[in-house]
Amino acid sequence: MCQYTTKRQFDNLKMPKILAQGKTIECVSKSNLRTILLQNGIDLYNDGAKVINCRGIGSCGTCAVKVEGEVSAANWRDQARRSLPPHSPTTDLRLACQTQVLGDVKVTKFDGFWGQGSRIVWTPKG
Ligand code: FES
Repeated sequence: MCQYTTKRQFDNLKMPKILAQGKTIECVSKSNLRTILLQNGIDLYNDGAKVINCRGIGSCGTCAVKVEGEVSAANWRDQARRSLPPHSPTTDLRLACQTQVLGDVKVTKFDGFWGQGSRIVWTPKG
């Protein structure tokens, strides 16, 4: 008999894989994307944003990345910050610090201080 009695308990055991900058990282479901990327040496921030950022409270917007895969819905902080320039609410970026990983994801970083540019800095493969 399975020791996990509910689907929710079983889902919490999933170990999603994150592909970013050539690394494959496993994490616990619902992990914070920013935390996992930084803990694994991924260059989440561009240029001076490595030093000048809000440390994950969702106000600076410099942790913006493109995320493909199963993640939490964008919360109000994510939506509010990305609605302000130089971000645009119409781009498909997410704030890593406001994003929970729910399934396997691929992450891409774009250029610009806020990661708002159109040139790729790194892809899931490197
Ligand atoms: S670290 Fe500042 S918004 Fe994510």
